Amino acid sequence: MAGLPELEHRAAVVTGAASGIGLAVTEAFVAAGMRVLMTDIDDAGLASHAERLADGGAEVRALAIDVTDPEAVERAADAAVEHFGKLHIACNNAGIVTLGNSWELPLSEWHRVIDVDLWGVIHGIRAFVPRILASGEPGHVVNTASMAAMTTIPGIGPYTASKHAVVGLSDGLRAELAALDAPIGVSVVMPGMIRTGLNPFGTVEPEQVAANVVDAIRRDRAYVFTDDHEIPQVESRLGAIIAARADVVS
Ligand code: NAI
Repeated sequence: MAGLPELEHRAAVVTGAASGIGLAVTEAFVAAGMRVLMTDIDDAGLASHAERLADGGAEVRALAIDVTDPEAVERAADAAVEHFGKLHIACNNAGIVTLGNSWELPLSEWHRVIDVDLWGVIHGIRAFVPRILASGEPGHVVNTASMAAMTTIPGIGPYTASKHAVVGLSDGLRAELAALDAPIGVSVVMPGMIRTGLNPFGTVEPEQVAANVVDAIRRDRAYVFTDDHEIPQVESRLGAIIAARADVVS
């Protein structure tokens, strides 16, 4: 895969586009001359940002959907093709988090988070990838995981489980598309501590994530880190995993 250096006029869909990282990615796409279908469960926030961007001359549309509903995600894929003629880029970005020890969290919380953070991405892959393939043109899928998939963070079990799964799904999708020789890249994004509604302790601006997403599409970066703040923890975890082979008994 050579990546997608020319982004002007490409058509994209972004989930979770009403705030934070999804909104910043939408704005970066618009700045690159792309057309964007913004989607989010927050109807009012979505409408106001879409209107603001359209007033500034951006070619954006908005559709309120819940990513946990596979039919709604299909509707978004149809709407993107209807509005723009083709779909090139899909960002499965919507996400939520819940706090609590794994053995104490109510099952309803496990389901609520995994429904959005994992099933939302699965629904996106199932709805958007066939449309990107059907375009017959180069494309790209961007899945938002988290540093929670690379380091150890206690107290967010459903989130961590979902984000680990998103990394595995993205690796698998990338290999499946490569096996078809399809000109479609896949990136999985590992934001760290990003200043958004989801993370009041964030120190990195969502625009920095968006700049990395755009660069990842242009250069087909498989794994996208947004800063290097927690790289030592990643190295230490991966090092411990590899070193564990020394403990194997025979
Ligand atoms: P955010 O809360 O600002 O944005 C998330 C958006 O997703 C919101 O607009 C929300 O309305 C939407 N959303 C929630 N549930 C939805 C559903 N069922 N259907 C459709 N839309 C839904 O949070 P942020 O930080 O921008 O999160 C974006 C992604 O980045 C998430 O996947 C999150 O897990 C990930 N991330 C964020 C980090 C951070 O530090 N902010 C760190 C690592 C990953």
